Amino acid sequence: MSQGETPRKANGVEERAGIHSANFHFPEGFLWGASTSAHQVEGGNTLNDWHDWEQAGRVPEKSGRAADHWNRFRSDFDLARSLGHNAHRFSLEWSRIEPADGVWNPEAIAHYREVLEALRERGIEPVVTLFHYTMPRWMAARGGWESPDMEKRFARYVRKVVSELGPLARWWITLNEPMVQMYKGWLLGQWPPGRSDWGAAVRVLRHMMRAHVIAYHHIHDLRPDAMVSIAKHALAFSPCDPRRWRDRLSVRMRSYVFNHLILDGLHTGMLHVPGLFWERLPAGRTLDFIGVNYYTRDFVHNTGLDLPGWMGGSCGFDHRLQVGKLNDLGWEVYPEGLAKFLHEYSRFKLPIVITENGVPAADDDDRWTFLFMHLWQVARAIADGVPVVGYLHWSLLDNFEWADGYRARFGLIEVDYETMERRIRRSALKYADIIRRNEL
Ligand code: FCB
Repeated sequence: MSQGETPRKANGVEERAGIHSANFHFPEGFLWGASTSAHQVEGGNTLNDWHDWEQAGRVPEKSGRAADHWNRFRSDFDLARSLGHNAHRFSLEWSRIEPADGVWNPEAIAHYREVLEALRERGIEPVVTLFHYTMPRWMAARGGWESPDMEKRFARYVRKVVSELGPLARWWITLNEPMVQMYKGWLLGQWPPGRSDWGAAVRVLRHMMRAHVIAYHHIHDLRPDAMVSIAKHALAFSPCDPRRWRDRLSVRMRSYVFNHLILDGLHTGMLHVPGLFWERLPAGRTLDFIGVNYYTRDFVHNTGLDLPGWMGGSCGFDHRLQVGKLNDLGWEVYPEGLAKFLHEYSRFKLPIVITENGVPAADDDDRWTFLFMHLWQVARAIADGVPVVGYLHWSLLDNFEWADGYRARFGLIEVDYETMERRIRRSALKYADIIRRNEL
């Protein structure tokens, strides 16, 4: 076929010069890019609870300069642009914007305005996260998410930010992974504030959901065409012993609570744990799209006949069902899980954006395999009619992986933490090729 001639196309199958290729075409306007969060890449964030947690020696490494993205965002976005990215998710650091209760820092707001402008100038659509785990120190001292004041304080912050920056961003994520934060901070005690208290955890979750709802309305009030969601961590579960009915039931319980409860609540305006409690949230449906963060699968076994027992415990590895390889942090590579969630979340009949998906891999070939296998699942889901409109890889840069520090290498771009030099990885170039062709 001569150049310029349109290839014959049927169901994504093209015929070119007698060669059949079954390449999958992503929808026009698909959002392609990567994600970061403030505390993990900016460096110099000293006004939040994570900083205090690090100083107290609760994690092996301190975030320190991180990837120095605060100073290097323009050249980092040049790299993203050179890789064809047309979207980028990042978070605002509340503790920089409001360093003390009710006190705004105009320099921090100006900085984030420059960040947004830098993205726009490069033709990159911003996806802005308002809260990615880190709590201003002053708010943490008042009880953070446990405090009934939190909703009001969060709403005031959101209103300020959106009135300043709203014209520059249409896509907003209110909260990153509320369930994970509640679980690690208030049940496992591994993250700030280091608690282990079911009652407090339930209160935290209620406050988070109410805060989202209130923020949703403020954002829409200031920017009516906004697209607002949360970034929902979706974690696949399988029974440790598939023959044991108690394990199978624990998988169902855990999966409902962990993967569905919040989205169902925000979609229906009702927070409902069957048999435990329900509550009407402040007002109606508050999701314009579904943001999904997906990484791995856990194996679950029942540990007793009370509520924690039915939620079960998650086990070590070496399961019969497991065929995937483990990544550098020991998480199973399980691409099928992504397709499963995309199908399940299609019930909301809302656009879906994969707001995070990635792998800690010192060996970049492992990153490419991971990326390709997951994109293949995305393609399959779209072919089945699931309305996925974007894929944002975690992460653009190597960064501070919370309690796991700097050994986890998640970046499409390698960071040399001594010199702060950036090196584009081969996986990033292969990803760029998929983006350029918009097909797999
Ligand atoms: C997600 C977090 C993100 C990053 C990745 C690896 O759960 O949202 O900040 O740590 O995991």
